[in-house]
Amino acid sequence: MAFAHDAGTVVDRLVQYAAASVAKKQPVVRLEPLAELVERLELERFAREGGLTGDALGEFLDRYLDATTRLHHPSHLAHQVSVPHYAGALGALIDGFTNNPMAIYEMGPAAAAIECFVINWMLEKIGWPPAPLPMDGRVPQAQDAQERPLPPATAPAGSHGAGVLTHGGSLANLTALTAARSRAAPEVWNEGNPGDLALLAPAQSHYSVARAAGILGIGAQGAYELAVDARGVVLPDRLPQAWQRAMDDGRKPIALVANACSTAVGLYDPLREIGEFCREQGVWFHVDGAHGASALLSARHRHRLAGVELADSVIWDAHKMLRAPPLCAAVLVRDHRDLDGAFHEEASYLFHAKEQPGVDLIHRTVECTKAGLGLKVFCVLGSLGEAGLVDYLEAQVALARKAYDLIQAQPDFHCPVAPESNILCFRYRDWNVEHLRLRDQLIARGTFHLSSAALNGCWHLRMVFMNPHTSLVEVRELIHAIRDLAGPPASG
Ligand SMILES: Cc1ncc(COP(=O)(O)O)c(C=O)c1O
Repeated sequence: MAFAHDAGTVVDRLVQYAAASVAKKQPVVRLEPLAELVERLELERFAREGGLTGDALGEFLDRYLDATTRLHHPSHLAHQVSVPHYAGALGALIDGFTNNPMAIYEMGPAAAAIECFVINWMLEKIGWPPAPLPMDGRVPQAQDAQERPLPPATAPAGSHGAGVLTHGGSLANLTALTAARSRAAPEVWNEGNPGDLALLAPAQSHYSVARAAGILGIGAQGAYELAVDARGVVLPDRLPQAWQRAMDDGRKPIALVANACSTAVGLYDPLREIGEFCREQGVWFHVDGAHGASALLSARHRHRLAGVELADSVIWDAHKMLRAPPLCAAVLVRDHRDLDGAFHEEASYLFHAKEQPGVDLIHRTVECTKAGLGLKVFCVLGSLGEAGLVDYLEAQVALARKAYDLIQAQPDFHCPVAPESNILCFRYRDWNVEHLRLRDQLIARGTFHLSSAALNGCWHLRMVFMNPHTSLVEVRELIHAIRDLAGPPASG
């Protein structure tokens, strides 16, 4: 069978690829002009003639892998993307092959069961009662949620959490904030945006939060920044001022957002204090845990998220610190009715009463055809077990701390903040934009892949320790490489 043969070719190549990357036998990143790649990969020929199978597939794959950015390379320190555990990649293959768009239960019962299990597993980590797993009967209808009165800030007895997996944290933020808007201003769905809605968030929020404000019709003018300290962490005693500014402007906040942790520096906002403030004001509390919610698994690091249970919604990316391949992000809500009432739509071919022993998740998500994303994370969880994921997470956070100590011990390097996660920013001498040139040079050499971040008006280099094969060896090599590229300090 061609499938078995070609799959064997792909697996063989990937095994060699991973081994060569881990052994640093190839550059971590190699940027070639896009037009040259289109030519070298013979895209036009294959598109015209077909034949991407057998030996041709193997040769194509050699050329393709040669032009990848190698996440398995220990000097890959750039972004918050997992080095997927192979089991998760196999999960993605299974889902791609079986293609069960499981947002409608009858389209993918096994994938739906896995998604519901994963969501409940995450809800329990937050400390919210998980959803009862349906045995038979009636499908919850979106109208159930729409016809209800607005829930109080504290979910009533008998309510339970709920969630859905989406393609990434950006879509997860949009989904959670749509649910927040539907709770605060349910009339908007029919009547359109009244122009007086507001969203409160720290400037350090991921850009997808500002995008969600734009998409939801709140706009940049309706987005109020929360005051932060020099590290970019929300100052809880300054929350009333931001709130008052929105009130003075005659605005109605739909939600207040906190980071767990922030994208640029990986620091956690004080969730308990922020959550208590939101309870007092009766406003939706959204926690962006895309990167940092995985710390909930670790007895050592879960304190960073103390108070997360006060949130109304949390997002949590499995394709960051749970070693799942992209994309797999969870939107989690404390009260299931909030997510069930987030979207209102009609589609007679999908939404109708039916007797079935499972749930349709389609009314909780922007997506219609929805991949079986649960497999990507569950295959990792089922392979490593929770303890394996905890070991991974704790090792990455510990490495960031050791790297911090090492860098701080250098006379010509400096870290602006001590890390709380596996993200670490640093600067060389008193450099600013020079860091961007340095980054380009490191990429051109193919020896390191770093990212950069502007903090308090100054550019820094940024490392994210995602790769289990990275150690302090790479950090030492990086320090040498930077000094080498920078040349001797200017005299006088
Ligand atoms: C805090 C935070 N939220 C949201 C996102 C967006 O997630 P995604 O890249 O999965 O869309 C990121 C991505 O880095 C993030 O760090």
